[in-house]
Amino acid sequence: MVTVNQQRVPRKRTYLMCSPEHFAVEYAINPWMDVTTPVDSELAVKQWDRLRETLVNLGHDVHLLTAEQGLPDMVYAANGAFVVDGSVYGAQFKHEQRAAEAAAHRAFYEAQGWRFVAPSETNEGEGDFAFVPEAHGGLILAGHGFRTEIAAHAEAQEALNRPVVSLRLVDPRFYHLDVALAAIDDSNITYFPGAFSTASQRVLAQLFPDAVIADDDDAMAFGLNLVSDGLNVVLNSEATGLARKLKAAGYQPVPVELAELKKGGGSVKCCIAELRH
Ligand code: ARG
Repeated sequence: MVTVNQQRVPRKRTYLMCSPEHFAVEYAINPWMDVTTPVDSELAVKQWDRLRETLVNLGHDVHLLTAEQGLPDMVYAANGAFVVDGSVYGAQFKHEQRAAEAAAHRAFYEAQGWRFVAPSETNEGEGDFAFVPEAHGGLILAGHGFRTEIAAHAEAQEALNRPVVSLRLVDPRFYHLDVALAAIDDSNITYFPGAFSTASQRVLAQLFPDAVIADDDDAMAFGLNLVSDGLNVVLNSEATGLARKLKAAGYQPVPVELAELKKGGGSVKCCIAELRH
């Protein structure tokens, strides 16, 4: 069991974000998107900027990717690649509307001199991959069922030299792994079991017996779409229930408002890719 008074230690992170200056809901590729709901893009930028400031104030480095006109979902920077141990496994988007984002991410990593592995299978980067460095020697968790193809899990394992555990997502509301599961420190996770097949729930219970278990309300509030440095857990302000559970487990919840970006079907984690050296 997780000890309530356990000392949680933050670790400095490097993140990549992309401003929502061109954000809009112009098409619907997940159940949260409704093209008839108006988006306040000025407010979206304000809320996103608060998120960026929050990370910087916590001591983290935040790199910025240049937003491109005609790519309204580019603000969800998590989808552009998946980075582990200094290696970058590139994305290949499922939907045509987002396909061009992959090249923008690739150019960023190549300009910075990262080892880049181009994908040949459909995968949406950190949207469907999570890394837990101290769990079982360093484990990649990977989702499939809606966006990322299971063949990409095997490809990621070859690219990144880490075991990949495939998990099947079954609820269309939770179409990416990162809206259903998150690493909260180097060895533990939080997740909503209902987003996964029964078999995948058993796999998660076996690998992470001390996980913080989220419920339907936590998941619907986009609570699991969080970013943690091992102590501070930045999460959607509507996810008050999950914040309480994390606090009880010794973490420090840091709520941020991202109501505008929720209209595109994303929150905190979707906006952030972690660059892991
Ligand atoms: N509108 C975007 C899409 O459906 C949202 C992506 C959210 N990103 C994420 N990492 N879950 O592709």
